[in-house]
Amino acid sequence: MRSSTGDDVSPHGLWQSTLMANSYRDPYFRAQLERESRGSEELQELCLRCHAPMAHHDRVLAGQPAPRLHDLESNKLASDGVSCTVCHQITSEGLGTESTLSGQPVLGKERKIFGPFAHPVEAPMRNMVGYTPVEASHVRTSALCGTCHTLTTAHHGALFPEQTPYFEWRNSEFSDETGATETSRTCQQCHMPETGRTRIARNPMGREFLIPVRDGYRAHAFVGGNAFMLRLLADNREELGVEASSEALQRTAASTKRQLGEDTASIEVEGLQREGATLSFSVRVQNRCGHKFPSGYPSRRAWLHVQVRSAGAVVFESGAFTDDGRLRDIADEHGLPHVTLVQSPQDVPVYELIAADPEGNPTTSLARMSQRQKDTRLLPRGYRHDGPHAEATIPVGIGSDIDFTAGGDAVGYRIDLPESAHGTLQVVAWLHYQTVPPHWVDALRGETGEHAARFVRLYDAADKTPETIAVVTATVGGN
Ligand code: HEC
Ligand code: HEC
Ligand code: HEC
Ligand code: HEC
Repeated sequence: MRSSTGDDVSPHGLWQSTLMANSYRDPYFRAQLERESRGSEELQELCLRCHAPMAHHDRVLAGQPAPRLHDLESNKLASDGVSCTVCHQITSEGLGTESTLSGQPVLGKERKIFGPFAHPVEAPMRNMVGYTPVEASHVRTSALCGTCHTLTTAHHGALFPEQTPYFEWRNSEFSDETGATETSRTCQQCHMPETGRTRIARNPMGREFLIPVRDGYRAHAFVGGNAFMLRLLADNREELGVEASSEALQRTAASTKRQLGEDTASIEVEGLQREGATLSFSVRVQNRCGHKFPSGYPSRRAWLHVQVRSAGAVVFESGAFTDDGRLRDIADEHGLPHVTLVQSPQDVPVYELIAADPEGNPTTSLARMSQRQKDTRLLPRGYRHDGPHAEATIPVGIGSDIDFTAGGDAVGYRIDLPESAHGTLQVVAWLHYQTVPPHWVDALRGETGEHAARFVRLYDAADKTPETIAVVTATVGGN
């Protein structure tokens, strides 16, 4: 299936180079799973539910015990990650309710494939693969994605909201669950963009089936934010057993970079003024995602980087980073306090989740997390403190920051200029984003297992330059 410009737009062609197709091969996932289940393999059941859902559900539906990692060596259903027959066999039963979250959708047992279009022609699929295509409106709902994109753990008694994109979306102007409005957008509408009119399948011999041409065909592109991991997969595809071509993975990484740079967040410099040796302004950040930014896996972070330049020389800087992706001259391994006013290079506004263990110490171990110690990830537009799931998503550690509101944040800058700052001053502000920060990997360096060792090796060899979400400049005349 090709678009008018000749690109492969088939579900399989697009899906193959996404992170969902590689959720089981993902070497970071393997390393983290190895670390979490050192003491007890039981935990693996939880991880494999979402990262190898076909292998998991296949066993469980057949009445067998849930698989462990070592049961799945060379298991094709496992290595295909989140694929066609898991998403398309999720039934409407319990969707959007607690019972189907944390990776527990109810899968049908009747070989029905649920799809979005009316009156599907049944014969070709029945004859070729023994499945019956059925129209079902629930495949268009965010609740379908919410089954795996919500993870609440309770390893230490207390419930811990580890991943909440679906909850965040519900508590935003994007939700359509209490009636569609002008601002409603489902996960599918943003992550599976419409690509026009086409027949939705072709005969394996390349001929057309006698099936209707459909409007509103959606691309199985599933572009998110993790360009870093897609590039790592592309660079190590043979070692990791990745089936997508390096070109396809690089293409999905490039689409991810484009989405991060164009559709994720914007920044502005406001109120720039100089009074004697003091420069003041504020940087306003606006989140454009249908959930928090960052969202999803707890390691993700974004931060503001600001330089003040005078005649080309940098006279102030906060938020600079090193080649290996650490914040420069700052101990950032336990996260940083929330910042409302930047006055020194040590003040860096970082939008992040810091999870703590039952003793209150910051941790990167999923099985130790029991409370949110800091959660300053930017809220989506329309977020309400008394809205749905507020207890799992409400910001933590922002103090009395009145600028941190639904849809964004504003940070003040008040800088004592050095004497070398004269003439016109230029302010450059960036919003950077990182999916796998160095300190999350440092926590794996002491591990002895093969998966941890492999991931650390691949990580150290990878380009760790953070992604730039936005950059702006502003100038103020000299005095
Ligand atoms: C992560 C879940 C997910 C996976 C994996 C997935 N699909 Fe889909 N698919 C969907 C959803 C959701 C829709 C409906 C989108 C809409 O119309 O809102 C859809 C729609 C379709 C359609 C209708 C045409 C279109 O794209 O709008 C076809 C055909 C299809 N999928 C085939 C496949 C095949 C083949 C695979 C495996 C290579 C696959 N899907 C994997 C979720 C998935
Ligand atoms: C069966 C479980 C499952 C379902 C259902 C599911 N996902 Fe996922 N999804 C995953 C897993 C697991 C990953 C992470 C893979 C990894 O990074 O190793 C993922 C990753 C993603 C990513 C990539 C994130 C990034 O940082 O780049 C996007 C985007 C995404 N999913 C969107 C969707 C959408 C949209 C739907 C509904 C149509 C959906 N998913 C349904 C399990 C699922
Ligand atoms: C208005 C458009 C929009 C909607 C609606 C939306 N997303 Fe996203 N999503 C984005 C953008 C833009 C990004 C890239 C920024 C990022 O990585 O956080 C993203 C990123 C993600 C990521 C990666 C997040 C991270 O930081 O690791 C996941 C997972 C995801 N989306 C899942 C979902 C799910 C599930 C839904 C529905 C409940 C959804 N999205 C609804 C726009 C949207
Ligand atoms: C409810 C479904 C679900 C369960 C259960 C789950 N995950 Fe995930 N995992 C996801 C999704 C979805 C993402 C991608 C989110 C994003 O990109 O922000 C993800 C991402 C990750 C990542 C980051 C991958 C990358 O490339 O950046 C790691 C590591 C990970 N999971 C490890 C685990 C481990 C270990 C377990 C078991 C303790 C586990 N997961 C259980 C759904 C799940």
